Amino acid sequence: MSFSIFSLYQHPLSVLIAERFKTRLSVCTQHVFPDGETLIKIDETISDRKVVLIDSLDNTNQKLLPLLFLARTVKDLGASEVGLLAPYLGYMRQDKQFHAGEGLTSKYFAEIISRHFDWMITVDPHLHRYHDLSDIYTIHSLVVHAATAIAEWIDKNVENPVLIGPDSESEQWVKDIAQQINAPYFILEKERYSDETVKVNLPNVDRYKNHSPVLIDDIISSGHTLQEAVHQVNAHQMRKPVCVAVHPVFAGDAYERLLASPIDRMVSCNTIPHESNAIDVSELLIQALKRVYS
Ligand code: R5P
Repeated sequence: MSFSIFSLYQHPLSVLIAERFKTRLSVCTQHVFPDGETLIKIDETISDRKVVLIDSLDNTNQKLLPLLFLARTVKDLGASEVGLLAPYLGYMRQDKQFHAGEGLTSKYFAEIISRHFDWMITVDPHLHRYHDLSDIYTIHSLVVHAATAIAEWIDKNVENPVLIGPDSESEQWVKDIAQQINAPYFILEKERYSDETVKVNLPNVDRYKNHSPVLIDDIISSGHTLQEAVHQVNAHQMRKPVCVAVHPVFAGDAYERLLASPIDRMVSCNTIPHESNAIDVSELLIQALKRVYS
């Protein structure tokens, strides 16, 4: 299996993945001109090579254009194909026209990515109103589920857990994790009134008073969903919850606010580099890459 790996934003997973495939990371430089425009330069021969770009698409608006330039440069220099391994895929939550006059950005974003890459691997994209990435992506895409890695971590680190999903769409992964470690789970009812205002309702939790609550969400962005769930867990006299995120986006001061709230611990998967990373998904991505190149 021979291919070149680039990571324009030095994602730590790219190092782990390159090591496992006994290859080194290929080097590219991004020159930023005084006016903010960028130029990508590749100092090695990639003619006829298969190329994988490994970078997460958080802060997408800033990252995307240089990444597309890299993909295009690689193709111009003769690469036979270019795949995108994006542990976190942005823009998946804008999956419907929520208000009159709005654009469907998930679809526009998918069209752009599909035009520039030959295939894609990602971890738990936010599939809520879409059932499959192929609903909007036209390239072959492979989805990796972090559930196994999260289940292993909970099993090793939390005694007598009860898993909690903050909203209906979280049931897909919370249920899966609960089944893997044979733990009980329940799902909260969420209503979002704005970016910043979220309300969740807890069912009767009397039987879980001696359990360790584990709140699991796919994306923590503003942190308001999780903060409100933490508030309700505490208001119902449960123990302080362990909080787990697949994708630690943590916009603004979300992480600091969560740490200041009554939680036991905040941990995340390493899809986006962050100090809360405790759950490694590299092996899952390596297996996915093997499947792409088998
Ligand atoms: C929403 O449907 C997702 O699963 C998360 O619950 C949501 O993205 C969290 O957003 P925030 O941290 O801004 O409340």
